[in-house]
Amino acid sequence: MPGWRASAEFAMERQFALIELLADGRLHSGEVIARHLGVTRAAVWKALKKLVEEFGLELESERGRGYRLRIPLELLNGERIRSALSDAGRERLAALNIHRRIDSTNAELMRLASAGIPSGTACLAEQQTAGRGRRGRTWVSPFGVNLYLSLLWRYPLAPAALGGASLAVGAVLADMLHGLGAEGLALKWPNDLLWRRRKLAGLLLEVAGESQGPCHLVVGVGLNLRMGAGQGREIDQPWTTLTEVLGERAVGRNQLAGHLLEALSQALERYGREGLEPFLERWRAYDAYLGEPVGLAIGDQVIAGRHAGIAADGSLQLDTPTGRRAFQAGEVSLRPLESTQA
Ligand code: BTN
Repeated sequence: MPGWRASAEFAMERQFALIELLADGRLHSGEVIARHLGVTRAAVWKALKKLVEEFGLELESERGRGYRLRIPLELLNGERIRSALSDAGRERLAALNIHRRIDSTNAELMRLASAGIPSGTACLAEQQTAGRGRRGRTWVSPFGVNLYLSLLWRYPLAPAALGGASLAVGAVLADMLHGLGAEGLALKWPNDLLWRRRKLAGLLLEVAGESQGPCHLVVGVGLNLRMGAGQGREIDQPWTTLTEVLGERAVGRNQLAGHLLEALSQALERYGREGLEPFLERWRAYDAYLGEPVGLAIGDQVIAGRHAGIAADGSLQLDTPTGRRAFQAGEVSLRPLESTQA
């Protein structure tokens, strides 16, 4: 390994050792940090600066006493995630890849899928440097405070058969969080998870394969957990976090990742056998804008109508002045009419 690369990796390892030390949210003196990392006080100062500038972590200092993270972190841990799974869930999970920093967990699984990794491989990251959102948007992915999780599932089916999978996944995500005590969740077609009309989680499904099958699906979930206002300042729509939704009942990050993998793997397996049908009623129970006037954006066009619910194939039905029309998942986005007119 070239010397510069080895030293860059060493510096990165030291940076993560610092994050692990500070993760508890307690005060740590400069002297203790220097001893822990085996570096000088000047190097500690540089590493702390990097923590704020490169990792977006919010740091507080107390004169003469030391430094602490404003929001303590529960770092991802494979064993703790696995221990939240049932025996069946553990069997469905072929591999659990955890990264500290990656471009995108979805991009990673799409790359690895082409190289032949097994169905049921999951990928999580503390931070994404190029998190992907729907319709080409960026998913803001600061270090350690949210969940960025993707799961690969292989099907003997044609990609077209997976058209309803995004609704199925949205319904089980809402159900899983409801089971943990989250009240007032809603789904905005096709699969944005909202709380009080603010975005709590987003789903990105990517499919590739032969036109007649087989194919593979990567389901990516971005779930806001403890992101601070400063860390989410680049998000261009109202958003919330699970901590705000659950308050005192908040669940640990690893446990939540385990619950999510359990629910997703179960749903993806079931979808392969039964399609969207068993998930439809659950989705409908969370429908955010049913009966309301909405604007449906398709490219530059906005189609106005009344949201008439979802059809059996998962398409959105809109009552327009020219009659009821159905729109397929993936091409459109939905907003309350006021904001599309603005
Ligand atoms: C949306 O726009 O609402 C979808 C956001 C999906 C974000 C998740 S985070 C984990 C996975 N990796 C990505 O790059 N995107 C998805």
